[in-house]
Amino acid sequence: MIGHPRVHFRLTDSTNERARELAAAGAPHGTIVTADEQSAGRGRQGRTWSAPPKSALLMSVVLRDLRESHALLPFAAALAVCEACECEASSPRCSIKWPNDVQINGKKLAGVLIEGRPQEGWAVLGIGLNVFIDTDDFPPELRESATSLLIEYAAPQVEVMIDAVVDYLGAWVDSPADAILAAWRSRDALRGRAVRWANGGKEGTAAGVDDSGALIVETVDGRVALDAGEVHLSAG
Ligand code: BTN
Repeated sequence: MIGHPRVHFRLTDSTNERARELAAAGAPHGTIVTADEQSAGRGRQGRTWSAPPKSALLMSVVLRDLRESHALLPFAAALAVCEACECEASSPRCSIKWPNDVQINGKKLAGVLIEGRPQEGWAVLGIGLNVFIDTDDFPPELRESATSLLIEYAAPQVEVMIDAVVDYLGAWVDSPADAILAAWRSRDALRGRAVRWANGGKEGTAAGVDDSGALIVETVDGRVALDAGEVHLSAG
């Protein structure tokens, strides 16, 4: 069951780091690590992730017994966040920027970072969700591109969002691949939009995702499938 046991820190460097340590030491499937604040929160592709104390959901989940269907874990996690925000915070409908950035009105509300040791049979699923952050609390360079539940509607307690995300995650993590893909496709923020990758050297139009979760892009040379791990994407 996801959410038990739970380890909470007032301050830690990264909940993903703590969860990785617990996983390596044998923590059971579903263990969660949460924090009020991180001093070295990690984002995707080597970026950092920061939030003022007690104003964001900062959570990492230990997952074990991963099967082939779990290749879509990044999508499942983003769907859980969308549904938790819409149901618990009555937020406007969330969309997902491939592979797993949760957005409202084109601004980033939440991100997901999965780190794993497949050979040891576990993965850590980290979620950062901006709950109680006002525009001025974001660093200047993020004010145009980031948002929070507070800005979009009204912010519930972070604890309420943790419970909700844990519940929806429990349902989505074990959902069949076709259900995950259908729900993800209905929230696809990039479809039909211009995208660039390879440091802006390649471009095309996003055309949805294939059944493995790769992003399909129509280019002048034909269709290509981009793998999330390898691509730094910018949307036009
Ligand atoms: C992204 O770059 O979009 C992913 C951000 C993931 C941030 C979360 S916050 C909780 C967990 N601990 C971390 O160090 N990172 C993830």
